[in-house]
Amino acid sequence: MTDELRTIIDLIRYGASRFNAAGLTFGHSYDNALDEATQLTLHALHLPHDIGPAYGQARVTLAEKEEILGLFLRRIEERVPAAYLTGEAWFAGLSFKSDPRALVPRSPIAELIESGFEPWLGGREVRRALDLCTGSGCIAISMAHYNPDWHVDGVDLSDDALALARENQARLRVDNLRLLRSDLFAALAGEHYDLIVSNPPYVTDAETDALPKEYSHEPELGLRAGADGLDLVLQILRDAPLHLTEDGLLVCEVGEAEQALVQLLPELPLAWVEFKVGQMGVFVAERHDLVAHNARIRALADARERAAAPRAAAGLF
Ligand SMILES: C[S@@+](CC[C@H](N)C(=O)[O-])C[C@H]1O[C@@H](n2cnc3c(N)ncnc32)[C@H](O)[C@@H]1O
Repeated sequence: MTDELRTIIDLIRYGASRFNAAGLTFGHSYDNALDEATQLTLHALHLPHDIGPAYGQARVTLAEKEEILGLFLRRIEERVPAAYLTGEAWFAGLSFKSDPRALVPRSPIAELIESGFEPWLGGREVRRALDLCTGSGCIAISMAHYNPDWHVDGVDLSDDALALARENQARLRVDNLRLLRSDLFAALAGEHYDLIVSNPPYVTDAETDALPKEYSHEPELGLRAGADGLDLVLQILRDAPLHLTEDGLLVCEVGEAEQALVQLLPELPLAWVEFKVGQMGVFVAERHDLVAHNARIRALADARERAAAPRAAAGLF
């Protein structure tokens, strides 16, 4: 049957049709079947992702066709995210290595990095920036790449993620970046930053358990964050003032946990970023507001930590 598929465009169209028929989820880097089929096809053909449309009519060899169809099959049968099949994901205009040691880069924070965090920084000078929960390093490395005069730290709890981030640092040749293992701010005593950026885990327990199979290929440590998704976010809000300079800024992604956060801390002034595609659950907070509301934030975060300690000691998570 696949004898009828001869050209690049034939294969892309076929892949997209099969993906749609199989009901795949497109939550990782590309949001539709055609783009994913294009990505897998061009990867297998060793062609750049921005070739002109005329190449769509080029014929593929039998061996090339088998390679492409093999990738389509793994995408459908194993539900592996396309970025893990190609080993590459694009973020903020840069090519990152991507594999199951860390989440596939897809944060809308890329747009903020490309716009220099304006208007949020309002011209404030940044000398030191932190990417908390760096994963593949995509946010830290992009900030360092586009701002060669910044000194950037990227931290993560996972040794696997840090190993991948180090490979990405070498791949993109940024030397104004330090990657460290840290449980949130634990290893950063005495360090101060003008800008702290974070895309922490924020998926609720119930949502994590119900995620489509694609997400099971990603490390759960990067997703699960308690009953309302705010376990880590509250700790970040509590401890960020200790690590921000006087008029420092916290930029944090909470995705669909936005509503729960606003309900929990309705009085905390958070500016929700409007992206090209609309709101995506990313807020900007000023240090002085976090300080002013620290007592309430601390009470909430501490209570969760106290409740979690016996569960952790009993090996319940
Ligand atoms: C949602 S992923 C984001 C990764 C990356 N920043 C991105 O945007 O693709 C969250 C990351 O937080 C890390 N993480 C989870 N708990 C952590 C903790 N307590 N301290 C530091 N990092 C943590 C995970 O290993 C994971 O890499």
